Amino acid sequence: MFPIVRARRVRGNPALRDMVRETRLHPDDFIYPLFVRSGKGIKTEIGAMPGNYHFSIDRVVEEVGEAIEEGIRSVILFGIPDQKDAVGSDAYNDDAPVQAATRALKESYPDLVVVTDVCLCEYTDHGHCGVVKDGEVLNDPTLELLAKTAVSQAKAGADVIAPSDMMDGRVGAIRMGLDESGFETLPIMSYAAKYASSFYGPFREAAGSTPQFGDRRSYQMDPANIDEAIREVALDVDEGADIVMVKPALAYLDVVRRVKETFEMPVAAYNVSGEFSMVVAAAERDWIDRERMVLEVLTSIKRAGADIILTYHAREAARLLR
Ligand code: PBG
Repeated sequence: MFPIVRARRVRGNPALRDMVRETRLHPDDFIYPLFVRSGKGIKTEIGAMPGNYHFSIDRVVEEVGEAIEEGIRSVILFGIPDQKDAVGSDAYNDDAPVQAATRALKESYPDLVVVTDVCLCEYTDHGHCGVVKDGEVLNDPTLELLAKTAVSQAKAGADVIAPSDMMDGRVGAIRMGLDESGFETLPIMSYAAKYASSFYGPFREAAGSTPQFGDRRSYQMDPANIDEAIREVALDVDEGADIVMVKPALAYLDVVRRVKETFEMPVAAYNVSGEFSMVVAAAERDWIDRERMVLEVLTSIKRAGADIILTYHAREAARLLR
């Protein structure tokens, strides 16, 4: 009891504070998301995500070179296709931007971990993550297209396959597709507990993937549910997921913690576009200290139990941690 016990004794000296720190961020924790498109010499800023761009392949190679200098060792790629159709053909086109960027990045930086996002929403003209019939997003017919997408990305040299579509059975379908094509050693990081969240707003501008009718609530999870997250993660683990993700991160730290404690698997958390843009917007108005907030946000995600953090702050945070 006080005055014998004084919690402040270990807080007075910066070196001592560092010694008793329980959670330490490191650039190894981060996966840096990037948006790739066709063309040459293109680097167009995304309005709702300042400091993030649509890159042509040549420019993404430059960007990643700089990120590597700063300590980043992994990226996740999202594609902006030239055309969209009802079945998302460019998702599984071997020459589409994600596949081309994967080949270029692995050629330039063999040690880089290239994660590829598997989903149809960027590639469908209706903006949904699966095949649509009579206004409904169909589950089972979508699985084959997702598996085809994963195999196409694997052939391009992807190191980790990351399905984000939330169809039932997709991890199993992708695992089987990969194994049949000789990629049985390629890991799957599944967006296992992915919520139907308002925090994806800026990403949908970035990826041009806003649903043209309805919303994603018939396949993404209700933000109110946590037991269901455990069931979702269990399914993905049973189907062969190697890393499980909770998304978004900040409003779902309780889910991150529970998933980590329940499964004792590598857990990733996605610090999504809306979480990023809120920090950036408040900092632009001088309402908050951006650098301190970035590190605080990322530290909280790791403290909650995430081993891996997907974040648009990756380069900035890696610089701050030097
Ligand atoms: C695709 C996908 C989305 C995000 C990652 N993959 C958008 C969505 O589900 O609408 C969101 C990422 C972010 O907001 O940063 N299904």
